[in-house]
Amino acid sequence: MKTRITELLGIEHPIVQGGMHYVGFAELAAAVSNAGGLGIITGLTQRTPELLAAEIAKCKSLTSKPFGVNLTFLPMVNSPDYPGYIQAIIDGGVTVVETAGNNPSAYMPQLKEAGIKVIHKCTTVRHALKAQDIGCDSVSVDGFECGGHPGEDDIPNMILLPRAADELDIPFIASGGMADARSLVAALAMGAEGMNMGTRFIATQEAPVHQKVKEAIVAATELDTRLVMRPLRNTERVLTNAAVERLLEKERTLGANIKFEDIAPEVAGVYPKVMIDGDLDAGAWSCGMVAGLIHDIPTVKQLIDQIMQDAEQLIKQRLAGLY
Ligand SMILES: Cc1cc2nc3c(=O)[nH]c(=O)nc-3n(C[C@H](O)[C@H](O)[C@H](O)COP(=O)(O)O)c2cc1C
Repeated sequence: MKTRITELLGIEHPIVQGGMHYVGFAELAAAVSNAGGLGIITGLTQRTPELLAAEIAKCKSLTSKPFGVNLTFLPMVNSPDYPGYIQAIIDGGVTVVETAGNNPSAYMPQLKEAGIKVIHKCTTVRHALKAQDIGCDSVSVDGFECGGHPGEDDIPNMILLPRAADELDIPFIASGGMADARSLVAALAMGAEGMNMGTRFIATQEAPVHQKVKEAIVAATELDTRLVMRPLRNTERVLTNAAVERLLEKERTLGANIKFEDIAPEVAGVYPKVMIDGDLDAGAWSCGMVAGLIHDIPTVKQLIDQIMQDAEQLIKQRLAGLY
């Protein structure tokens, strides 16, 4: 399958693995790239630019195919060393960067100068148009279904993707709720040039996370996610557990007076405990509604091959057969 995204990124299949905190290590990124998609290392999971440089080098030793690095621009008290991370990406010869969160315009000239393709992940048409204006090569359009941060507008992909298609000139990738060939074909029908998956890639053999995390995703249904931190305008879709229910109770009782410190026990420093130690109830961790469509833990290659094979059947038989 050839689309504007496979051409832009130099990949075989129009499938991208979104950056994921404490999941997007070299092992997973390389497995996705080796299977013909685009794997992405999560920049900020590496505590320093030097550690990111080492992770990039590791990924290069595991694949000769293109892969990307995610840089998430968060509102933080102590801002990470973004210039250092950007330099590590450029020096490491990475060809694609997935930006997310705040506007990446401050770093665009440097990234473009280095010939890096920039995909900005965003949750509104407004932000997608801004990304196009500042020179991004592509956007990942993340619908309300998505695991992680869906923004505050709550527009699901059945509306968001065709809206993006109507407004954008640059190619876009459908993200949020994508799991299989049906997702890919539907995304293409709505004007996307590929799909981005997060939660689905966690439940794979190569994802370097605790087995319990993968099993929790397989066990979960589409009813098991919750939105937390909405009162702080930092909404995150997470898998429910005791800590999440406690957090939601605090949101109900504290109302508009809630501050980050009130919920820090449920959200700060949670990811290593969950992803590495398998302590699933340590706090709130991102997971998409798409968990309801995930029933197995295949290898990344099995997953991607199956998607591409089923997509061909869907398009050539089911859809073509309607005429
Ligand atoms: C556990 C987890 C961690 C994530 N961490 C990040 C992150 O650090 N930066 C980011 O831009 N997106 C992050 N995301 C969002 C994904 O990159 C992707 O956009 C999202 O998972 C797509 O929705 P899906 O889960 O329905 O496929 C995370 C998602 C999950 C499930």
